[in-house]
Amino acid sequence: MDKTNIVTCTAPVNIAVIKYWGKRDEELILPINSSLSVTLHQEQLKTTTTVATSRSFQEDRIWLNGKEEDITHPRLQSCLREIRRLARKRRGDGDPSVDSTGLSHKVHICSVNNFPTAAGLASSAAGFACLVYTLARVFGVEGELSGIARQGSGSACRSMYGGFVQWIMGKKDDGKDSLAQQVEPETHWPELRILVLVASAERKPVGSTSGMQTSVQTSSLLKHRAESVVPGRMVEMIEAVQRKDFAAFAELTMKDSNQFHATCLDTYPPIFYLNSVSQQVISLVHRYNRHYGETRVAYTFDAGPNAVIFTLQQHVSEFVQVVQHFFPPETNGGQFFKGLPVNHAALSEELKQAIGLEPMPKGISYIISTKAGPGPCVVEDPTLHLLESTGLPK
Ligand code: DP6
Repeated sequence: MDKTNIVTCTAPVNIAVIKYWGKRDEELILPINSSLSVTLHQEQLKTTTTVATSRSFQEDRIWLNGKEEDITHPRLQSCLREIRRLARKRRGDGDPSVDSTGLSHKVHICSVNNFPTAAGLASSAAGFACLVYTLARVFGVEGELSGIARQGSGSACRSMYGGFVQWIMGKKDDGKDSLAQQVEPETHWPELRILVLVASAERKPVGSTSGMQTSVQTSSLLKHRAESVVPGRMVEMIEAVQRKDFAAFAELTMKDSNQFHATCLDTYPPIFYLNSVSQQVISLVHRYNRHYGETRVAYTFDAGPNAVIFTLQQHVSEFVQVVQHFFPPETNGGQFFKGLPVNHAALSEELKQAIGLEPMPKGISYIISTKAGPGPCVVEDPTLHLLESTGLPK
């Protein structure tokens, strides 16, 4: 009788506060600098992946968000190959937990996000982290997996852990020392809140992979950043996180985002990820902080116009009202706020005037309110598998 072995797991999105930009090895995905991120809570943003193996499957197949995709994609192949290699090695070492029967079987993979892919939120990190974590469970391999997730997408290695995570760049040519490591768990800083401001973007920006390639080839600022700026910032950022020093954390986060976008402008031809909405968010944050004479809010931007805001719980309700005022939404508030509930505070005229920006109607589609969260998890409930026992999507 053919038995289908089936496992479902979930994995989180992460947002870098010290950015990864630039590779020293394209194949192995080895970075030119270390980076540090916060893992976002999976209640708001996650990828769910089911992997099934069976002797009856004819070939490896993958479905992403309801559509069958090309399994021969080189980065998918790297992850599959490395997990199978690890499983064979562990079996060779006599580890009884490794499912040796399934090793020769083909896999079916089905993956979905609980957030719209079109929103331009980094989904490849959660996607590859989830793939690697689920494959490992299916084949019964445990232990360090971030080095395999890294070969799917660099930032994916950081999604293998919860809380505050560093990706140590490593020195070796084979990449064995280029791994993610948890700095502090998700419970470390419970007051920290994260707001994802989804900008209503018109067009798809240049992808990270090709963008960072051009930056490495042409930007001397990027070289300076990687060699002389990031090493010191990593130390300072880890200390700020450990001390829960919001002002220090916030300032470093904003400066690092700004420097990353400066290296994009220093790329030739230049790359623009920030648009007028992003620029308005930047002004808003600085004016808000200046009004209070302290750093209460920070922004960071990846390879697109969406802003990710860090603040403390006590400032969330006022700050989201500020955002709603300066980016009047289409709908009347209802669908504008998603995720963790936010209280509605009244905005003072004084604060609005102090900020003094011209409102940009519909500049932001919606806000997802979230916090730091755990790393990948196994879904125990078999009704939640995304594949039937026949190996086809439900
Ligand atoms: C700006 O991890 O998407 O989000 O390794 O080529 O897949 P590849 O790139 P990717 O790059 C992420 C870049 C970033 C910064 C960051 O997350 O550190």
